[in-house]
Amino acid sequence: ALLWLYIFPVYRIPSDKEMVDEVLRQGQTWSRNQTGADLYRKLLTECCDPKRMFAVTKENSPIGKVLWYDGEIYHYHTVTNDTYPIFVQDTPLQFPLKKCSVVGNGGVLKHSGCGKEIDQAEFIMRCNLPPLSKEYTTDVGTRTHLVSANPSIIEKNFQNLLWSRKSFVESMKAYGSSYIYIPAFSMKPGTDPSLRAYHALADSASNQTVLFANPDFLKNVGRFWRNHGVHGKRLSTGLFLVSLALGLCEEVTTYGFWPFSVGLDEQPVSHHYYDNILPSSRFHAMPEEFLQLWHLHKSGTLRMQVGDCA
Ligand code: CTP
Repeated sequence: ALLWLYIFPVYRIPSDKEMVDEVLRQGQTWSRNQTGADLYRKLLTECCDPKRMFAVTKENSPIGKVLWYDGEIYHYHTVTNDTYPIFVQDTPLQFPLKKCSVVGNGGVLKHSGCGKEIDQAEFIMRCNLPPLSKEYTTDVGTRTHLVSANPSIIEKNFQNLLWSRKSFVESMKAYGSSYIYIPAFSMKPGTDPSLRAYHALADSASNQTVLFANPDFLKNVGRFWRNHGVHGKRLSTGLFLVSLALGLCEEVTTYGFWPFSVGLDEQPVSHHYYDNILPSSRFHAMPEEFLQLWHLHKSGTLRMQVGDCA
């Protein structure tokens, strides 16, 4: 039995109630640990080189380069005369980024009043083309510098862009002149819709820049967190963006990360701030991810805002 325990250490995700207690116990006590933040930036730079590698660029992906998909095996895309021109020359961000907000889509944001605080950061990242209409502004803010767009949303909300592209281009205006971060080379069926999204924006003279997520970067970040005990089939978009922020920004604050069904007031909380559609449990290990981020919060490496903003 001891050998069994050694191979499979007892590892239990706390219940929702235990997590609430833990966060309440910690309260508002938090102070930044610059050494911790520097250490994580170093670790992430060593494993994943976010500054150079987070997007597919002409620099890291010349014609002929084979991009192996990170979400499935045996599939790859060879960079050709067709795809090379649509990649940015090099990482377009200006470093160093001082203060970054990473906004998850958790229901804890509802009635949080965090919009102003989120918007105060120098660089704001959001996940999965979230709604930013007026009714949400006080809770989630309005500014965006980078927003991720999974091909599955393009399929679900915009008929894979096979028909009209107008509503897609219109809805993207909510994100100002931000970077649209698309994992085009993660799953084979996602590539064509992603390329169509690029062309739809380019043809409409949009001032947004499409960045294709580099599958090598996603793979390395996945490995990094697996080594830290995150066992999901694939990391959630939120954790990819927090990893990016830890690698690029001096100060990281997260909002809307709370994959539990009760809030700090012990009342039910919806899964998203805009709906209560639950995720497929097969895919991510969000509570495990949360524990990792909570650990970083407690050590002062980043700050997780879970409760309402003052
Ligand atoms: N999230 C969270 N708690 C919630 C909901 C979301 O921590 N209750 C975080 C997760 O990191 C998630 C991100 O916010 O990746 C964006 O939320 P969502 O759009 O719901 O992500 P998913 O649909 O699960 O998609 P993905 O596969 O892109 O992660």
